Amino acid sequence: MSNGSVDMRTERAHSARVYDYILGGKDNYPADRAAAADIVANWPNLPTSMRANRAFMARMAHRLAADFGIRQFLDIGTGLPTAPNLHEVVQGIAPESRILYVDNDPIVLVHARALLASSAEGKTSYLDADFLDPDTIIESNQLRETFSLDQPVALTLIAIVHFIVEDDEVRRIIRRLMDALAPGSILALSTCTADSAPAEVETGVAAYNANGIPLVARDEARVERLFEGMDLLDPGIVLVNRWYPDRTAAATSDAHVHMYAGIARKSA
Ligand SMILES: C[S@@+](CC[C@H](N)C(=O)[O-])C[C@H]1O[C@@H](n2cnc3c(N)ncnc32)[C@H](O)[C@@H]1O
Repeated sequence: MSNGSVDMRTERAHSARVYDYILGGKDNYPADRAAAADIVANWPNLPTSMRANRAFMARMAHRLAADFGIRQFLDIGTGLPTAPNLHEVVQGIAPESRILYVDNDPIVLVHARALLASSAEGKTSYLDADFLDPDTIIESNQLRETFSLDQPVALTLIAIVHFIVEDDEVRRIIRRLMDALAPGSILALSTCTADSAPAEVETGVAAYNANGIPLVARDEARVERLFEGMDLLDPGIVLVNRWYPDRTAAATSDAHVHMYAGIARKSA
């Protein structure tokens, strides 16, 4: 692959490429595949849990667009393009929807063009930035040019905050981002938990860490505290397969799903 001037740091495993490989994608390198094989050997239901998370993302985006009328989406930790991408879900409901994707992985940047295929009425943008540096995201031209900041935005943090092990750090960043958004804005989040399969997830988390990718599993109370200061909406903090399940999600065993989800609203 020609990467232009982007340093892909292919010699070590990256979370985006490990995720891509486990979900059957092609945008990964030998170090990612070796790490993924080791991780899945230690965490056999991880592929099922990842697919359940991705399906949750699509149901959540659909609900925010169709039932909550949200037309602006700030998606941080986007990952590699896959079907369906968030903008395809929400623009399928409201073509005027505007989406800003943010990721800090060089391979996601290389593939970002596939995320930028907006409907004519709406807009999609991409920002190469770090979740740990929310000021850069808030002050970016991409954010100003994509959103009307007097209108609600959905901040979607799907399978990213488990890579930040300190709860206080996650809360500080969420607060900084939500402070910049209008009342009525939504936080939608999914993150790893061991509550549904303690032994398997603890072994799997250790395998992630041993492969150089910090990962933390949070219990329900810790996940709920990430929404501090906001109004947690129905159905509260639940496993991703239990969040307004469709038939496939409803048929998925809880013991095979290791991700919690929740959404909350910033009050007026
Ligand atoms: C497991 S993938 C999730 C992708 C997608 N949100 C989903 O749920 O299908 C996590 C993504 O978060 C990105 N990521 C991890 N840490 C990040 C950070 N500090 N800043 C920005 N992106 C980050 C990774 O590069 C990766 O693309």
